[in-house]
Amino acid sequence: HSSICKMDSQSSSPHVLIFPFPVQGHVSCMLKLAELLCLSGLSVTFLNSDIIHRRLLRYTDVISRFSRYPGFRFETISDGLPPDHPRSGNRVVDIFDSIKMVTKPMFREMLLPGGCLNSGKRPPVSSIIADGIMCFTIDVAKEMGIPIYLFRTVSASCFWAFYCIPKLIESGDLPIKGASSIIIEKDDEMDRLLLGVTGMEKYLRLRDLPSFCRANDLSDRAFQVVTTETQETYRANGLILNTFDDLEESALAQIRKHIPNLYSIGPLHANLKSRLEAKLTSPPRSSNSLWEEDRTCMTWLDEQAQKSVIYVSFGSMTMLSRNELIELWYGLVNSRKKFLWVVRPNSVAGDGQNIPAQLLEGTLERGYMVRWAPQEEVLAHPAVGGFLTHSGWNSTLESIVAAVPMICWPYYADQQVNSRLVGEVLKLGFDMKDICDRVVVEKFIKDLMDTKRDELTRPVERMMKMARRSVAKDGTSYKLLCLSGISVTVLNT
Ligand code: UDX
Repeated sequence: HSSICKMDSQSSSPHVLIFPFPVQGHVSCMLKLAELLCLSGLSVTFLNSDIIHRRLLRYTDVISRFSRYPGFRFETISDGLPPDHPRSGNRVVDIFDSIKMVTKPMFREMLLPGGCLNSGKRPPVSSIIADGIMCFTIDVAKEMGIPIYLFRTVSASCFWAFYCIPKLIESGDLPIKGASSIIIEKDDEMDRLLLGVTGMEKYLRLRDLPSFCRANDLSDRAFQVVTTETQETYRANGLILNTFDDLEESALAQIRKHIPNLYSIGPLHANLKSRLEAKLTSPPRSSNSLWEEDRTCMTWLDEQAQKSVIYVSFGSMTMLSRNELIELWYGLVNSRKKFLWVVRPNSVAGDGQNIPAQLLEGTLERGYMVRWAPQEEVLAHPAVGGFLTHSGWNSTLESIVAAVPMICWPYYADQQVNSRLVGEVLKLGFDMKDICDRVVVEKFIKDLMDTKRDELTRPVERMMKMARRSVAKDGTSYKLLCLSGISVTVLNT
């Protein structure tokens, strides 16, 4: 490991170490948390995996952006995998093993006297905020006597569903009989409501449990990892979630019974934006993308009518089959709506790496395709009237803050829970879970953009206002971050 960005200050402010799980959706929002803490005047070290760090340097201006904060610096550490490992799709689970085996001892060494995080050049680390799916950090923190807070990137509803897994095993709901990770389109058993996830028993079906619960047996690696990591949360000094009270009141209340030190400080991107706007006259864009953003789509959007475009993006890890790509494409084209579609490099399985020429031709008329978009800006653009999303939690929050209704097509992990919340509880869109059929896609798009737009407008605008209120001065997320919450807790430790 090496110190990449030395902006040492000898200030005596508390020194927080932030350690994310090394994938886009985690790094990007934990960097936002890092910036928020910098704005509160804390010294922050952000510990990145080498690979992620190289990509951040390549595609973003993080170094110049963070140079405003004299107490900030990056450190890097290996994720323990060989450089050519794909680190995506169902191979993400390999990172869990390597990080525990290889990275954990390195992390410990960094914190020992003489290690790069304890070298005497900066104040010693006074608090750790680690990704909540890396509970090995709790062992290290306890050994060193450093308080540790866990940060989960998923929704409170999803965290709570994960938390209840042992109860669902006990009641015989899990493992799902005859389940496989293959999408189960028509199966009445999957539509059965679950009583074991208290507070969500009126709407959470087997189908809506995190995708890992579709494993055939309890020994599935991803299933085991999320279950154990979640159960261990109580060992930390507190839990931080990227959500806000009005959005997930019921799940937060359930979690709080088990983990009283719970800080809901989201949506982080909006929280950060509002604080930067209060401080600077023209705050810089804060992209943390690991792919190069294609900004030509913004010019294309400028030429489109208000609320006429459906934005299509499935986040940083979704892999589409060629058949899914084609069904989605037909649905989009047959809806006769304009669309902006993000197709990441290597995100189509098998020989479909390259988008078939026939699709591209049809796209020229009404669609625009990019490999990676400046998503927050796209969603805020007046031409965007809907979002066909995989229901990643960051994407969901970004859509809420921009008041854009969603069609949810969850892929894996937490997304199955999020899409149910959005479709059934919050009424901010439609849940297209487990279906990828051109006729259905077309129908949902027409409903979202025309037929049912009016019925979505009220809940969508209402939630947007509540999100913005939560991060405004005296809002719940604002207060939890700086008054009663993290900053003060960290300051006191
Ligand atoms: C995953 C999980 O699905 C998510 O729920 C969890 O909270 C974090 O890990 P991911 O699948 O990448 O993340 O989805 P999401 O959480 O939506 O994050 C994607 C991020 O990439 C968003 O912040 C989005 O703005 C950004 N993005 C996506 C772009 O900037 N440009 C794009 O073209 C697509």
